[in-house]
Amino acid sequence: MTDPTDSLALLSPFNIGDLTLKNRVIMAPLTRSRAGVERMPNEIMAEYYAQRAGAGLIISEATVISKQGIGWLNTPGIYSDEQTKAWQQVVEAVHANGTHIFLQLWHCVRASHTSFQENGQLPVSASTVILNEEYIHSY
Ligand SMILES: Cc1cc2nc3c(=O)[nH]c(=O)nc-3n(C[C@H](O)[C@H](O)[C@H](O)COP(=O)(O)O)c2cc1C
Repeated sequence: MTDPTDSLALLSPFNIGDLTLKNRVIMAPLTRSRAGVERMPNEIMAEYYAQRAGAGLIISEATVISKQGIGWLNTPGIYSDEQTKAWQQVVEAVHANGTHIFLQLWHCVRASHTSFQENGQLPVSASTVILNEEYIHSY
């Protein structure tokens, strides 16, 4: 077992479930808003994640699971076959560095806005309590 007081422990492998991470550095999810209005994973996203693949594990930026779940500008989605396929370039770029990546699934619920919703409908949420405006990021 690795001695946690060892200053090199951070760089030693770590088992998480069935996965072995090459080190104990885990990148937190960070929204970058680079997926455009189509919310499509793309080349600059693949480059961005590959540049950070020194980590043992990357947790992706929050990724909306449905159109209804959208609540932020230009964040990626994974609700269409095209988006799912387009994520492959990101995953392959990260895997090429021996790094694992988890996708953070996102539904913005009440932290959305009518301007993101089809036909300007109200966002769908389990709560009817209005969110403070400063938490809403719309066009
Ligand atoms: C620009 C930016 C984007 C972020 N995007 C996400 C995100 O997509 N998903 C998430 O769960 N947290 C997100 N966060 C929160 C970070 O993951 C969080 O700040 C990080 O884990 C460090 O934790 P701390 O801010 O409590 O120190 C974001 C933070 C920043 C500054």
